[in-house]
Amino acid sequence: MQTTRRPVAIVTGASSGLGRGYAERFAARGHDLALVARRADRLEELADALRTAHGVQVDVIPADLADALAPQRIADEVAARGLRAEVLVNCAGFGTAGAFAGEDAARIAQEIAVDVTAPTLLARIFLPDLLAADGGILLMVSSIAGHQPTPNLAVYGACKAYVTSLTASIWEENRGSRMRVLAVCPGPTATEFFEASGSEQFKVGRVGTVDEVLDASFAALDARRGPVVTVGWGNRIQSVAAKLAPRRLTLRVGRTATERAGRTA
Ligand SMILES: NC(=O)c1ccc[n+]([C@@H]2O[C@H](COP(=O)([O-])OP(=O)(O)OC[C@H]3O[C@@H](n4cnc5c(N)ncnc54)[C@H](OP(=O)(O)O)[C@@H]3O)[C@@H](O)[C@H]2O)c1
Repeated sequence: MQTTRRPVAIVTGASSGLGRGYAERFAARGHDLALVARRADRLEELADALRTAHGVQVDVIPADLADALAPQRIADEVAARGLRAEVLVNCAGFGTAGAFAGEDAARIAQEIAVDVTAPTLLARIFLPDLLAADGGILLMVSSIAGHQPTPNLAVYGACKAYVTSLTASIWEENRGSRMRVLAVCPGPTATEFFEASGSEQFKVGRVGTVDEVLDASFAALDARRGPVVTVGWGNRIQSVAAKLAPRRLTLRVGRTATERAGRTA
């Protein structure tokens, strides 16, 4: 279909927390937007606020990313509305917690669909548009949980390790292009994440703010740094230590930390 509008920034998970923050920052920078999440009422309310505050055009595309067909449906909807992506922020996500043996298989399947399958397919589907755009950006929201195995957050940590790995490979493969590619790895951050994920075991260490994550993300994008930015000094030191320490020690420390976070909640 012929494109009739300015290219847009597509933001998944825009109904809450970090995704909402990315949508606000991109709107403030003058980008038109397409907002994706399940809660359409929240997306509509944000869309109205962004149109009023920044004079940008905002589309709302409600979707459940646990549905394997959702990424292609979103792409079809984007095309049907005459939109073209110049920015893709894959931010939607949630985690499961507790010992792996006690995890619910159906919930894990949703987690992998939302945290791994959907961002992978959306990145692949929209990559040609991001590469063709003047200021193409692929921003993948990962986590420090992906820097090392995370006992008691086993699937979540593995999902985020995948996201960081995938993003780094895409970064290298497209090094000579104009597109910027970045995996953002926040530590625990004050959003609805803990409530949505139903566990305090994610609160290992200091809980930072959404603005800290956004500031680190845009500083890295503006400086064309990549492929990975870890948010905050403490988290950066922790991730280096986890890589240098013997694996069994890292696992023991991680297990103790998640158990303690669960108890002190
Ligand atoms: N907060 C933290 O401590 C932290 C730390 C590191 C990384 N992260 C990552 O940051 C990202 C954003 O999380 P957040 O902290 O902003 O949490 P949040 O406030 O709970 O927001 C999560 C977003 O994901 C969307 N989402 C969840 N399941 C979805 C589904 N099935 N289909 C479509 N959208 C779905 C939610 O929208 P709907 O419910 O409306 O669908 C919501 O907009 C996630 O990828 C998370 O893993 C968070």
